[in-house]
Amino acid sequence: MSHTALTAEEIAGLSEQPFFKTDALIAGCWQGSTDGDTFAVENPATDEVIAVVANCGAIETEQAITAASDALAGWAQTPAKSRAKILRAWFDLIIANEQDLARLLTIEQGKPLDEALGEVRYGASYIEWFSEEAKRIYGDVIPAPSTDKRIYTLKQPVGVVACITPWNFPSAMLARKIAPALAAGCTVVCKPANETPLSALALGHYAIEAGVPAGVINILCGKTQEIGAALTSSPVVRKLSFTGSTAVGKMLTAACSSTMKRTSMELGGNAPFIVFADADLEAALDGLMASKFRNSGQTCVCANRVLVAEEIIEQFTQMLVDRLSKSVLGNGLSQGTTIGPLIQKNAVAKVQGLVAKAIEQGATSVNLPHQTPSTGNFVAPLILKDVTADMEIFDAEIFGPVATLIGFDHYDQAIKLANQTTAGLAAYVYTQDASTMIKASEQLEFGIVGVNEGIISNEMAPFGGVKESGHGREGSKYGLEDYLEVKYVCLGGLH
Ligand code: SIN
Repeated sequence: MSHTALTAEEIAGLSEQPFFKTDALIAGCWQGSTDGDTFAVENPATDEVIAVVANCGAIETEQAITAASDALAGWAQTPAKSRAKILRAWFDLIIANEQDLARLLTIEQGKPLDEALGEVRYGASYIEWFSEEAKRIYGDVIPAPSTDKRIYTLKQPVGVVACITPWNFPSAMLARKIAPALAAGCTVVCKPANETPLSALALGHYAIEAGVPAGVINILCGKTQEIGAALTSSPVVRKLSFTGSTAVGKMLTAACSSTMKRTSMELGGNAPFIVFADADLEAALDGLMASKFRNSGQTCVCANRVLVAEEIIEQFTQMLVDRLSKSVLGNGLSQGTTIGPLIQKNAVAKVQGLVAKAIEQGATSVNLPHQTPSTGNFVAPLILKDVTADMEIFDAEIFGPVATLIGFDHYDQAIKLANQTTAGLAAYVYTQDASTMIKASEQLEFGIVGVNEGIISNEMAPFGGVKESGHGREGSKYGLEDYLEVKYVCLGGLH
């Protein structure tokens, strides 16, 4: 897709669009906060305020929970085929408006427009997939222990679900939670990140247009802790699905224990990207560029530690320098940009702090030609060589465009280094040897393993982690199970 920087008029044009919502969606109506309070949303590439959004709190969260609860029985009893049709109509509307939705996403999140368009499509693919899966929710008939009994299972919706979503994929993460919830017959109260509320609210607009009944989807932003407390303490909310940091995931899981809610936690990663000496190095480089630098390094599945066999590390580093030198840092709306800003100034400070500490501890930075723009939250892409397992950066989720290169001597050392983390979301392996592929994918302690593949996310596959990267799966047939309860019925006294 080719595109040019938008003029101020074009950016303003987006705000004239019907999907440009700044109020909360509660019980099918768009409403401001009860006290009229608002907060500003800034473009991370320019620091400009692009919207002023309703700053909701506990009162509006209670209203949203009540709306979701009131809508639950009707939605759960709506025939699966009808629920499927509504989800499909929602998917169609998103795809019909994908270009505008992509521009909106870039303006609030910063990622290059092509990536934003990819994200809008990626998110929509979950809605399409679960519109199909909605019709395939089956129970079982189980052989009974005696002739006077019959045993069967029903799959029923969990109930009202709270969805808390991050700023790094503001469209896709919301769609990935709402779509299976609605397919299962649940209703939802969603709290998108305050940095990026507009894409989420725009999806809410198209959901209503598609015929999602009032109260089935509620979306509000604002006072994060108040909203979180209201959602986690409510006995009406039966499940919480969260994507975000491990630290916040632990707090939310603890808070949910008072009402014994089910939880799905998609938390932080620390992905190893292992390049064995026999790998196709061009393919490994393609995979690394996609995995490490997508979204400026701000994904939970980003390659965080690049483990490279000592005999090829010099060659691979030079290839990476050549490739990364061609990347373009800038405003995601400008033609040719491949790396956009980070989300916030404190994210820039965090990445710079990690780099400074790594250099102090003995890492070497490799010079690249990028100039950092004067406005916005930019970090120039960087390669750090000579990184070792005792450095702070080895344990940290970098969440920025910094590739750390770590050498290894043999297979066992690579796997040991890779598993030397409390995280367990994604891992990547590049090799041409079938035994290494199989052994490594079995021995890596991660929920997802990409073998000779850097892009592992799609709606047909189960996305999720182990260890402190959380629990639960999103996408695939497993993603639907997370929103269903199994009820066992024992029919006795039969003659
Ligand atoms: C994430 O970073 O949380 C999601 C990444 C993806 O879906 O690929």
